[in-house]
Amino acid sequence: MKIELVPSILSSDFAQLGAQAQQAIEGGGSVLHVDVMDGHFVPNLTVGPPVVRSLRKVIQVPMDCHLMIENPDLFIPEFAEAGADWISVHQEACLHLDRTLHLISSHGCKPGVVINPATPVEMLTEVLDLVHHVLVMSVNPGFGGQKFIPNSLNKIAALARVRAERKLEFRIEVDGGVDLTTVGDVVKAGAELLVAGNAVFGHGDVHTDARQLLEAARAATFGRA
Ligand code: DX5
Ligand code: ZN
Repeated sequence: MKIELVPSILSSDFAQLGAQAQQAIEGGGSVLHVDVMDGHFVPNLTVGPPVVRSLRKVIQVPMDCHLMIENPDLFIPEFAEAGADWISVHQEACLHLDRTLHLISSHGCKPGVVINPATPVEMLTEVLDLVHHVLVMSVNPGFGGQKFIPNSLNKIAALARVRAERKLEFRIEVDGGVDLTTVGDVVKAGAELLVAGNAVFGHGDVHTDARQLLEAARAATFGRA
């Protein structure tokens, strides 16, 4: 299982977006996380396909677009065309989740499904064989810099168990409050794609902060059951 750091640009300085994203990648980020918010599904607004298109020109690693929006089917083609590699949608936002996941695949992107802190992993039973990754929200979505919700560790561990029992291959991603104090626990629970916004972009030295977080995550794999 490959541990990967997935820097979230939400906490970057948007006036320096390309340069900061590059620093995070040089510090060890191997996937770039783009948070898309519509002011309806979550109480905040962020960026859309034009920003993905611009980043695509300067970023070599896969772009992981986390859609926190209603009616994601309306926008999936445009995100794919803009250069998204992975697209994830919220279980809570999709009436026809199976259809939406197939739509993502049909546009050549890796489909992911996301669950909020209050949504049990059992809600995903019927789609686990369709997804490239499951994203466990470890904060309520909408904002960077929030406190990690400890019960997320049980959800990550439950997903890892189901994956082993059913011999599936989806990857387990975690998003929210991942920093030097929590990263060891999330890795030990079974997460391998570690989204981090504030911990990477919030303190000044993006390159160093990314590298230290990835090192702490890798160190924790030695203590994993
Ligand atoms: C929150 C977003 C996250 C956010 C995480 O709704 O989905 O990706 O950037 O930020 P931190 O790492 O600061 O909790
Ligand atoms: Zn996110």
